[in-house]
Amino acid sequence: MRLSDLKQVLEIEQSSFPRPWSLNAFITQLAKDSSVCLVAVDDGMIVGYIIATQYVEVWHMLDLAVHDGYRRKYLATDMIERFLDICCSDKHRGFTLEVRKSNRGAIKMYESFGFICTGIRKGYYSDNGEDALIMWKDSEDMLA
Ligand SMILES: CC(C)(COP(=O)(O)OP(=O)(O)OC[C@H]1O[C@@H](n2cnc3c(N)ncnc32)[C@H](O)[C@@H]1OP(=O)(O)O)[C@@H](O)C(=O)NCCC(=O)NCCS
Repeated sequence: MRLSDLKQVLEIEQSSFPRPWSLNAFITQLAKDSSVCLVAVDDGMIVGYIIATQYVEVWHMLDLAVHDGYRRKYLATDMIERFLDICCSDKHRGFTLEVRKSNRGAIKMYESFGFICTGIRKGYYSDNGEDALIMWKDSEDMLA
């Protein structure tokens, strides 16, 4: 992801989430050495993105969305696979993320990568008070 991608990234973000990230939130992640920010591109158009950052040997998957005209084509799956490939050479304990309890499609996708639900943040989402599931995946090293 580059700064010049952010106009299109923001459009996808705003049509995907009730409380979208601001432009500054994306710029902050792009500027961090400890973050991975990837886009999926189709014929020059940004159609999806994933953002993750590492804190204390844990990768936090912070944001993931696919343009609504491009969903169910395994773009999110491809971006997660690419992200996991990039991280595999790094020393880390695992991966974590939060997801709305009602987001069954995303939860199913994360489970297909071996994420499990390890907890709940009650009322985490301020727009509707919905709970977040905390999901976790051990690094491959931990499993070896
Ligand atoms: C969640 C999201 C990123 C998935 O992107 P995608 O590219 O459509 O996902 P994929 O095509 O890689 O899906 C892989 C699998 O995940 C599951 N899945 C994904 N979306 C699903 C949905 N809406 N309903 C049911 N299952 C779904 C399915 O098992 C799917 O495999 P299948 O199509 O063979 O059944 C996309 O729907 C999106 O941008 N949603 C809005 C933002 C969002 O919720 N982001 C996640 C925040 S934690």
